[in-house]
Amino acid sequence: MKGARERVELESEIEVAGQDFRGAFGADVTRVEGREKVTGTARYAFEFPVPEAVYAWPVPSPFVKGRLTLIDPEAALATNGVLTVLWHTNAMRLQSQENPELYLLQEPTIAYRGQFVALVVADTLEAARHAADLVVVEADTRPHDVVLTDRHPGLYRPVKVNPTYQTDTAVGDFDGALATASIRVDETYHTPAEHNNPMEPHASIAWWEGDRLTVYDSTQYPTAVATSLAGLFGIEPDAVRVIAQHIGGGFGSKGGHPRPNVVLAAMAARHVGHPVKVALTRQHQFVNVGYRTPTIQRMRLGADAGGRLVAIGHDAISQSSELMEFAEQTAVITRWMYAGPHRRTTHRLVRLDVPSPAWMRAPGETPGSFALESAIDELAVAGGWDPVELRIRNDAEFEPEDGLRYSSRGLVACLREGAHRFGWAGRDPRPASNRQGDWLLGTGMAASTLPARAMPSTAIARAEPDGYFHVLINAVDIGTGARTALWQVAARELDVGLERVRISIGDSAIGPAMGAGGSLGTASWGWAVVKACRALCDRLRLEGGKVPEGGIEVRVDTANDVKGLQPYARYSFGAQFCQVRVDIDTGEIRVDRLLGVFAAGRIVNPLTARSQLIGAMTMGISMALFEEGAMDSRYGAYVNRDLATYHVAACADVRDVEAYLIEEEDTHLNPLGIKGLGELGIVGAAAAVANAVYHATGVRVRSLPIRLDDLLDRLDRVPPPPGPPPTGYGPPPAYGPDEQVPAGPGYPDGPDPTGYGPPEAGPAGPGPAERISTEPGPAGPGEGESKG
Ligand code: MOS
Repeated sequence: MKGARERVELESEIEVAGQDFRGAFGADVTRVEGREKVTGTARYAFEFPVPEAVYAWPVPSPFVKGRLTLIDPEAALATNGVLTVLWHTNAMRLQSQENPELYLLQEPTIAYRGQFVALVVADTLEAARHAADLVVVEADTRPHDVVLTDRHPGLYRPVKVNPTYQTDTAVGDFDGALATASIRVDETYHTPAEHNNPMEPHASIAWWEGDRLTVYDSTQYPTAVATSLAGLFGIEPDAVRVIAQHIGGGFGSKGGHPRPNVVLAAMAARHVGHPVKVALTRQHQFVNVGYRTPTIQRMRLGADAGGRLVAIGHDAISQSSELMEFAEQTAVITRWMYAGPHRRTTHRLVRLDVPSPAWMRAPGETPGSFALESAIDELAVAGGWDPVELRIRNDAEFEPEDGLRYSSRGLVACLREGAHRFGWAGRDPRPASNRQGDWLLGTGMAASTLPARAMPSTAIARAEPDGYFHVLINAVDIGTGARTALWQVAARELDVGLERVRISIGDSAIGPAMGAGGSLGTASWGWAVVKACRALCDRLRLEGGKVPEGGIEVRVDTANDVKGLQPYARYSFGAQFCQVRVDIDTGEIRVDRLLGVFAAGRIVNPLTARSQLIGAMTMGISMALFEEGAMDSRYGAYVNRDLATYHVAACADVRDVEAYLIEEEDTHLNPLGIKGLGELGIVGAAAAVANAVYHATGVRVRSLPIRLDDLLDRLDRVPPPPGPPPTGYGPPPAYGPDEQVPAGPGYPDGPDPTGYGPPEAGPAGPGPAERISTEPGPAGPGEGESKG
């Protein structure tokens, strides 16, 4: 047991914050580990001083596709300090092929450029890295296929999409309803490959004591790492210990399953009989740990004259690798976001000679929301409806596809609160109508949502004889503030001040628990912490309130509690409002302001919750304007593999991001009423930016990221600053749910207030009326069962 030193630190931390922390649940408590982090004493996986550790460095395949014919380690082995070189003919055999990405150095096949084909182990990091360059790799290569298209002959219908959603769904008569709708949108949206870039790259240290394996790993999910390593190395799960104390971000790339670094470290440690450290580089991180698949999404929306959606269709195409199937759930958001009687969603996949995609923040909902929320904006323009009111009009009372009741649904509250805070009322809906000097200003908005779930976890609570409590759970804090939130939850349940509670996380020795992913960490872990603390209080009562000499310890598991959840549709919701300015000469886009209002159940810690939302919204700006993995089809790989060439939003790109929370009481989730919000803020954010760019310029960009050259040749047609709106063209009417929505003055049927014609209609460009297709579109992926 750790002693008084830690308690002193906790107490001083309380003093610094200078608050009464009794009942601190719901308070802005600063991070319990904040001091360690800012003083550099918080240790990340690679930083633990492990005696006699040596270093391993992976060798990536220089070929895209083929079969290894030779690995020549001679030159590498001749390097000072090199201990061994491992590859498929001499590496130890792994026992599990469950995850092909982790079946490392076992087979001669090459599935994508950059796949690890050998590993050099040396006394120093430098020697290992240098020698890795000297390993000679030869292969019989074959032509590769790396480009995702919507006509790819290999498109097929996966059995399910992530994590366990139905691949396709259909309700009512989608085609019939679309054909007879008053207003239609039929457009295709593209999102590129996007790469997770947490600050701390993936790293591990592994060592063996007999058949017991211990690893420090930069992971979001120690329980899954322990289970996978046990399977791979053929040992019992409790013979593996995974420690993950501080994690410098993950965004999905350290979630779900282990990444190669930890398997390679454990394998090398087995071979050389030393602890082995492996740290991936930023370049590796663009290839070997997953990324967000590019998507091609066809949206078809049909509305009646009153602005009610009658037909909603979303057909999504994405890619996976030859090595494994990863089926992004791109279209599932459309299944629950808006009401409407006739609906269809489909997913098609193609396996290419590309790195395996994996989880990236709000997988599915993030690219899916760009398409859905852009299309809703296009529908608003086509119908002459205010986009906020159009969304309110189509709010769902029951989950549209299966009729489930929502446990709570805060979308309309978020829309109204957001519109109010942003100052949406009185917005002039005409595109390109607000020119200030060389800048075109515009506003746009979008809605956000994310499933609210919980997963089973175990937890331990102890009452110590000295009056302190110790709560232990194998949770992970990847920078979210989870450790602090759980500390607050424990103090509340024990009804003591925070200074009386110690919280320990990030160690698989504590017992199995959910990982940090799916925005369900705090909901899942918090549930187990509540249960453990309540069980401990019961025990204490039995003891007459006295803690016996050895203390009391209880251990709980929420598996049955989670199983007992009643069927409800559980989601968080939000609304985001954006103002952009676009330079009329250069096409430069600046996001002046992004404001989000979110309803995510009970908020344990508004300070850290808000930080997460602002971070997620920032990623949305990044997605809208910058991020793109550039595939070079000749070379067969994403070629921009560093932060100089793969752009992410930097400080100067992020000016004014505000996040507000509407507190919700939801009794159908978990004992805490927590919905989870880590990923909620990225959903819809890119669409809010794109919709604002449309409003600023009249140019609809349906392919991310929005580049200067998407706008540049269109902006010279934008008129000089217009006068005030003509009479009769005021702000859009607000209407209640039961009123008939007036058919508004949409372009180009309404009055043309500028006198210059619709901004998109240049001499050759299609006007908005043409963009609303009334023809059945080309055969989309929904038309055929399988193209494979
Ligand atoms: Mo996040 S992509 O759920 O780890």
